[in-house]
Parts: sequence; C-alpha cells; structure tokens
Amino acid sequence: MSAERLLLCCLFLQGALALSGNFWHITDLHWDPSYDLGKDPKRVCESSGIRPAAQAGPFGDHACDSPWNLINSSVHAMKDILPNPDFIVWTGDDTPHVPNQNLGEETVLRIIGNLTDIISEVFPGTKVYSALGNHDYHPKSQLPGGPSDMYNKTAEMWKHWLDLESRETFKKGGYYTEKLRNRTGFRMLVLNTNLYYDRNMLTQNDEDPAGQFSWADGVLAQAAASKEKVYIIGHVPPGTFEKKRGKHWYRPQFNTRYLELIQKHHAIIMGQFFGHHHTDAFRMFYDSKDSPISTMFLSPGVTPWETTLPGVKNGANNPGIRIFEYDTQTLLVQDVVTYYLNLTHANAGRDRWEKEYRLTESFQVADASPASMHQVLEGISEDSCRLQQYYRFNSVNFDLSECDEGCRVDHVCATREVDFHRYERCLATKAAGASLSGSLLSIFGMAVSILFVFAQQ
Ligand SMILES: *[C@@H]1O[C@H](CO)[C@@H](O)[C@H](O)[C@H]1NC(C)=O
Ligand SMILES: *[C@@H]1O[C@H](CO)[C@@H](O)[C@H](O)[C@H]1NC(C)=O
Ligand SMILES: *[C@@H]1O[C@H](CO)[C@@H](O)[C@H](O)[C@H]1NC(C)=O
Ligand SMILES: *[C@@H]1O[C@H](CO)[C@@H](O)[C@H](O)[C@H]1NC(C)=O
Ligand SMILES: *[C@@H]1O[C@H](CO)[C@@H](O)[C@H](O)[C@H]1NC(C)=O
Ligand SMILES: [Zn+2]
Ligand SMILES: [Zn+2]
Repeated sequence: MSAERLLLCCLFLQGALALSGNFWHITDLHWDPSYDLGKDPKRVCESSGIRPAAQAGPFGDHACDSPWNLINSSVHAMKDILPNPDFIVWTGDDTPHVPNQNLGEETVLRIIGNLTDIISEVFPGTKVYSALGNHDYHPKSQLPGGPSDMYNKTAEMWKHWLDLESRETFKKGGYYTEKLRNRTGFRMLVLNTNLYYDRNMLTQNDEDPAGQFSWADGVLAQAAASKEKVYIIGHVPPGTFEKKRGKHWYRPQFNTRYLELIQKHHAIIMGQFFGHHHTDAFRMFYDSKDSPISTMFLSPGVTPWETTLPGVKNGANNPGIRIFEYDTQTLLVQDVVTYYLNLTHANAGRDRWEKEYRLTESFQVADASPASMHQVLEGISEDSCRLQQYYRFNSVNFDLSECDEGCRVDHVCATREVDFHRYERCLATKAAGASLSGSLLSIFGMAVSILFVFAQQ
C-alpha cells in the first residue's frame, strides 16, 4: 500500500472512531447487606426468604440478591472493560427484596449511598445519569407524586452528578433533564416511572403524578424546537413482562399516556433505556401505519435473584452489564454489547466477566435502530433458532431450556405490543394460530395412526 493510501486509510479510521460514542448501562444491583456465607444455607441472605441458598458462593446465589463482592466485581469489570465511557446510565433498584420492616428509610438511603460511592470512586469525573427504582424508596414502590424528604436526600447524594436545575425537579418528583455532557445538541430525560407502577398506592388517583407527563411533553417539545435529539431513561417500563402472560406494571391509563408521549415525539427520541425486569429484552413502538418508530432497551440486572412472581418459570439470570455504542452525530444506537458473569463459574474461583454477545453479530442486523430491532423481532417470531438464541440471552445464559410455542407467543407479543389491548389481541391471534396448526398436526397424527393400525392388520 502506498504511503498516501495508508494515510487516507488512517484518516478514515480516525473519522469512524470519532463518530462512535459509548456508554455503560447498569441496573437492578439490589445489594443485600445481610449476605453472609458463614451462616447455614437457609440463612445466608434475607432476600432468599424461605428458599435455601443451596449454591451460595462468594459471588452470590440465585436465591439471593447481590453480595457486596458481586457489586464490587461488576463495577470493577466496567472499569476494566471500558474505563472511559462518555457517561453511565444507572436505572435503579439498589436494595434487597426483603419485607419493608427489614429496611426502613435510613437503611434504604444508606444502601443508595454505598452504591453511589462505589460508582463515584471507580469512575471519578464520569457523568452518571441516575434514575430511581421502585426499591429505592421506603416503603418500597410508594414513591409520592410530589415533594418528599427522600427525594431531597437522594438529590443530595447525587449532587455531584446533577445540574442545579435537575436537583430542583428531582426534589419535586424524582425526575430531571439535562443536556448530554460533552455532546452538543443532545439531551437526557430521566423519568420517575415508579409513579405509574400499579403497586404504588399514592399515585393511583392522580391524572398526572408529579405533573411528570406534562413536564416531559414540554421538555420534548422544547427539545424539538431546539433541534435536539433525546434519550429517555427510567426504571419500571410500560407494556408487559415477557416471562409472565398478561403481567403489566403500569396502571392502564399511565401505559396509554406513556405510549402517546413516545408516538408524539418519536422523531427526536433516539432510544429508551430501562430496567426492572432483570432480563435482557426490548420493546417496539410503532406509528399508526405500523412502521417502527422507537425501541426501548431493557438491560439485564446485576442481581442473580430468582423472581418470586407466581407463575414465572426459571425466573433467574446471570449478572449482566452492557455497553451501548452510538453515533455521536445523530445519537442513533449502533450496537449493544452485553457482558456477563457465569455465577457458577465465578463461585468456583473464576470470576471472569465475559462478552456474552454483540447485537449486530448475533442477530445479523446493521445497527440497533428501530427498523433493525423490528427485524430482530421478526427473526425471533419466525425462526426457531433465532428465538432460542434470544431466549438464552433473555436470562443472560442462565436458562438454556427450550422456548416452546407458548413461550414464543409470550415473548413476541410482549416485545411487539406495549399497548395492553393490542397485546391481548396479539395473544389471541398468535395463540389461535398456534392451536390451529396444533390441531392440524393432531388430525394428521390421527390419520397416520389409523393408517398404521390398518397396515398392521
Ligand atoms: C473489588 O474488586 C477489585 C478488583 O477485582 C479488587 O482489587 C478489590 O480488592 C475488591 N474490593 C473488595 C472490597 O472486595
Ligand atoms: C456504607 O456506607 C456506610 C456509611 O453510610 C459505611 O459506614 C459503610 O462502611 C459502607 N459500606 C460499604 C460496604 O461500603
Ligand atoms: C426539600 O428541600 C427543599 C430545599 O431544597 C425544602 O424547601 C423542602 O422543604 C424540602 N422538602 C422536604 C419534604 O423535606
Ligand atoms: C466534559 O465536560 C466537563 C464539564 O462540562 C468538562 O470538565 C470535561 O473536561 C469535558 N470532557 C471532555 C472530554 O471534553
Ligand atoms: C457456566 O458455568 C458452568 C460451570 O462451569 C457450566 O456448566 C455452564 O455451561 C456455564 N454456562 C455457560 C452459558 O457457559
Ligand atoms: Zn429490580
Ligand atoms: Zn424494580
């Protein structure tokens, strides 16, 4: 190669690198300070409830929330893998799954404080956009739609990450917005969607808790006028849990309102990043002509805790953390790279965080745009190998069992339809399709066995 061409090539590479930015997304760390290996298996951690922590090791157990060792390991893994991200997105749930009386306001605040400390110490100077989870309050999930002492105290803990104006809106309702640090023309919108959670008894009769919807609508309208592009982050997502048929999180009126907000402003919303599921999933948003207009990425949790939601099969996961790569000119999400810790491995002395997968490689798509994510969904829906691959990633390589027909319908409909009615309709059509082919199969089977009987005679 000539020197000139080499130079051109280097310039091109440099250009390509400069166009790509990246950030970490971590969520659902759920530190359980009671975790102690010295105790008998039934008492290793309070978060296991009455379940034994049979495989408890230094990095945790699937019956328990995270020991400190796992929290420390995940934050240091982030530092080893990508020490200088443009920023970090942290979408909440810091405390263990234990009854309210085991925690109290002070303990909840101390736990949020400890996690804030370790992230700040390992990533000094890195901007962190931090959203509240339903477990980051006492009593859990009861986040008020107005000023609160706990909002004040959390804003105080996060003050090194918050602009002055953010601190003020945070104290009023646990939400804020800021221009994206070091990148002009972009904005981060941090929502407190715990206000829409159906377990929140304080907001059930509010039309617009903490005025957050009208505030967000105003922020997005202003952003559009200023030609900004926006990322939205939050904890509890709209739509339906893919691991339990019909399990919604939002009250219906709030689910509709959230969907309308995205449909109205989709042109400037370049990505939504949420947690709460502890699974690796995504949600599609469409316009009235069924064109894909937005994607919500649900990142896996750090806690390996198996959910106690009745009816969920195999509801545990390996600890996961993830990097989003984005175009610094447009904010388009280019790729998603997930890293994980094989908990069994780790407890056997090999605590190595490994790359689990890169979205564009594993699903053969060009990027992580809404059109590409729609293609991923089509693959999952039509190709059983793709479905199986998605299903393995959904639990971060924990559940390696087969995703059967009922499982496929649950995952496809939850991914495709954020709207509750459309989700029900999707179930009805897909399940009807499934049972139709099922009955055709059994008619065929009967015919074969009748022939077989005749042949034998
Ligand atoms: C945290 O992890 C780092 C990196 O693995 C290690 O050097 C350090 O000793 C750990 N600290 C604690 C308190 O476990
Ligand atoms: C958590 O924070 C408290 C102070 O609020 C401190 O005493 C304690 O050592 C911290 N724990 C860890 C594991 O960092
Ligand atoms: C929160 O802090 C503000 C000052 O920043 C104060 O005016 C307000 O009374 C506090 N609210 C509560 C509920 O503690
Ligand atoms: C990013 O912005 C912060 C504060 O605005 C500034 O201190 C820092 O130097 C900037 N970093 C880069 C890489 O430009
Ligand atoms: C995790 O580690 C265990 C124990 O070494 C191994 O059996 C299992 O296959 C590993 N899982 C994956 C997905 O690599
Ligand atoms: Zn959680
Ligand atoms: Zn949650």
